[in-house]
Amino acid sequence: MTLLSPRLAALLQMLAPCATLADIGSDHAMLISGAVQTGKAQRGIAVEINLAPFLESQRAVCRAGLQGKIEVRRGDGLAPLGVGEVDALCCAGMGGGTISQILAKGEGKLSAVRQMLLQPNVDGAKLRQHLLGTGFRVTDDQVVEDGAYTYQLIYAEPGKELKPYSPLELEYGRHNLARRSSLLVTLLARDILHWNKVRAELKRSNTEGSELRRRQIDEWIAQLEEVEKLGHC
Ligand SMILES: C[S@@+](CC[C@H](N)C(=O)[O-])C[C@H]1O[C@@H](n2cnc3c(N)ncnc32)[C@H](O)[C@@H]1O
Repeated sequence: MTLLSPRLAALLQMLAPCATLADIGSDHAMLISGAVQTGKAQRGIAVEINLAPFLESQRAVCRAGLQGKIEVRRGDGLAPLGVGEVDALCCAGMGGGTISQILAKGEGKLSAVRQMLLQPNVDGAKLRQHLLGTGFRVTDDQVVEDGAYTYQLIYAEPGKELKPYSPLELEYGRHNLARRSSLLVTLLARDILHWNKVRAELKRSNTEGSELRRRQIDEWIAQLEEVEKLGHC
């Protein structure tokens, strides 16, 4: 059985049983191997754009003896997939902007997809904003700690979001904010420190633009502190 990191294990836990899972940017192919080994996915398609991780995916699938159940394809995003070929999709370990671009370019391949597991390393707000303009809505968010890093995981299903998202919800996820886990509170505290540092640096440059930016950062920090002060549920 493939041993997964806390981040990949949390992603796998979010996956509901499916027929065919596509993992876009599979690299080490660990998630897709775990999904098939646990029986959560009956079969898998690992997609890689770059040669070295493509070969690594092939090797990993062979090592796990999963060649009969996981196909490894080389290509860009959803391009190597057929229309209606997969009912579940994972895109993890890239920036939110890159994941959004992959989903936008491959929109035509998403018709049969019933669940998407998304894990942006950065720019989660960009990705949630992108999803608002698609036929998918975020139905769960999670925060997971893995070594020195804290990651956000996004689970999306077909549907339309009716309630508009606030900037805070775009950044941290509506479901994370409703749940207010201790990890979310830790993440907020870390981000407050980060924005206070940015603010202090801006204070040293005294241009008209930096004053406006400082006011925006003040407002943002106040919003984060409001949630942080509530503590975890
Ligand atoms: C940092 S790794 C993440 C691997 C794995 N998904 C994870 O979460 O651990 C990102 C991988 O995505 C691949 N990648 C980036 N853009 C891609 C694209 N447009 N199509 C397919 N693969 C892509 C890269 O080659 C790299 O192997």
